Amino acid sequence: MNVHAPALTEAQRFDEPASPFADDVLDDLSQHPKRLSPKYFYDAAGSELFEQITLLPEYYPTRTELSILRDRGSAISATLPKGAALVEFGAGATTKVRLLLNECALGAYVPVDISGDFLKAQADVLRQDFPDLAIYPVAADFTAPFTLPQAVAGMPKVGFFPGSTLGNFEPHEACSFLRSARDILGRGAQLVIGVDLEKDERVLYEAYNDKAGVTARFNLNVLHRINRELGGNFDVSAFTHRAIYNRDRHRIEMHLISRKAQTVRVLGRNFSFRAGESIHTENSYKYSLERFAALARGSGWTPRATWTDGASMFSVHALVVSD
Ligand code: AVJ
Repeated sequence: MNVHAPALTEAQRFDEPASPFADDVLDDLSQHPKRLSPKYFYDAAGSELFEQITLLPEYYPTRTELSILRDRGSAISATLPKGAALVEFGAGATTKVRLLLNECALGAYVPVDISGDFLKAQADVLRQDFPDLAIYPVAADFTAPFTLPQAVAGMPKVGFFPGSTLGNFEPHEACSFLRSARDILGRGAQLVIGVDLEKDERVLYEAYNDKAGVTARFNLNVLHRINRELGGNFDVSAFTHRAIYNRDRHRIEMHLISRKAQTVRVLGRNFSFRAGESIHTENSYKYSLERFAALARGSGWTPRATWTDGASMFSVHALVVSD
């Protein structure tokens, strides 16, 4: 008998059953520097906080993109083939897609989102206002390959990726996403995509450091979520929100900074923090029109048209699959 056999550690007892969230949190807090993926911001509380962010006076992206879709909706729709299947990658609130649905005769709408419940609720409200529109929700992680419903096989395809969600991806990930979207949508497809633009650094800074502190609560909520869902013991008040513009990399970075030296326990594992140590929680890349066009070309897409607001804060692009 091996007298040195260790007792089952707390970590081993805790990690069954594992979830992608649990696995990612344990991995990401073990990195140097520590990090957490922005995709975990969006539990019910985080989604509600994000909705509040979109209404903040400092947070220009949502209202600017909406104004472009509203003002240029007929020009955008004029680029789309009749009877197309509109495939929305990551289906958020229905506000944006309604602007396109109002303008053009689509054959079908295919919202794709990881949250099946959310998709169903969203499809139900849209059906009331667009009773003739065929809606085929797909519950899938849109960053990985998925297959389109058989019902839209014969229709021209148009992808829709608003919100500058692309900005959360590293440049190489943005390229993979665009290639994968091209493979999913197929030959002859188009993509309508919203991309946030580089601008005055103070404007960027204020957008992620709002006076009301909503972005801080949004950022800190991921620690509450770890406490709630993974039995963590983060003292959330011992962390502080920090957002900075990284000029060299053209991105806003969000961090959670430990106010003191402390040890936090998650799923039976200890994570030690130095005073001032950061958890890097999000990048939000900002593009110039030229750099986005180059990214699109390098990812199998040809830019067809670009629309911006009067102050060039935000951009919407129509791309077509390159031959
Ligand atoms: C949803 C990724 C576009 O980067 O501006 C808002 C998320 N983070 N405030 C962004 C976010 C902090 C947002 N995206």
